[in-house]
Amino acid sequence: MIQLFRLSKSFGPSTALSDLTMRVHKGEFVFVSGPSGAGKTTLLRLIFGSEKPTSGHILINGINLSRINRSKLDLLRRSVGFVFQDFKLLPAKTVFENVALALQVIGYRRTFVRKRTHQCLKLVGLAEKEKAFPLQLSGGEQQRVAIARAIVKNPLILLADEPTGNLDPDLTEDIMVLFKTINMKGATVIIATHSRELLKGGAQRTISLIRGRIVGER
Ligand SMILES: Nc1ncnc2c1ncn2[C@@H]1O[C@H](COP(=O)(O)OP(=O)(O)OP(=O)(O)O)[C@@H](O)[C@H]1O
Ligand SMILES: [Mg+2]
Repeated sequence: MIQLFRLSKSFGPSTALSDLTMRVHKGEFVFVSGPSGAGKTTLLRLIFGSEKPTSGHILINGINLSRINRSKLDLLRRSVGFVFQDFKLLPAKTVFENVALALQVIGYRRTFVRKRTHQCLKLVGLAEKEKAFPLQLSGGEQQRVAIARAIVKNPLILLADEPTGNLDPDLTEDIMVLFKTINMKGATVIIATHSRELLKGGAQRTISLIRGRIVGER
């Protein structure tokens, strides 16, 4: 479970999040919506531990992120996948290597790494692009590499930041089905988006942010 308690984050004079309290249960599927600048990315980065709150607390399965050291945080992150809004792919590595690396750093065996990496690239429709480099890909293809990298380690928590921003409607639907499948297997999924298209089904819990505050939930 993810618990956020009175969380605030400022960057100098600008406040990205203010006094945010919420919890996401294990196995939940949640959207975080809101206009550009609302604080969606900041919220995901705080949960991932790559940004520290100015005040307040973040508990992941009861572990207070501000009370653990770097190596414990790294350990915790092994079970968290993050689809970055700006992809963060390594330009000098191939598509295959970018995805495989997420498993190699955890120390999985080579045969497993190869099999699982192929499998995930196939899931996002990129089996044919394994040997390409990120800059040889379209924006939507790069985004799908970022998605494959986030799901390859079977994360318990999947944080996805505007994960379909570069995809056409058909691919968007495929990726959402993929996320729902991962969720049904037990992972907690949090998706940040300002896409009305993505939110329009309305069946999922949606937390709306404006200027760093929760302004609604449904
Ligand atoms: N590293 C930073 N330094 C200074 N200000 C920042 C930084 N990161 C975020 N902010 C500010 O915090 C606010 C929230 O930014 P954030 O990136 O979380 O918004 P967002 O909801 O993800 O927007 P978008 O939909 O455009 O991705 C913005 O006003 C932004 O300028
Ligand atoms: Mg953002």
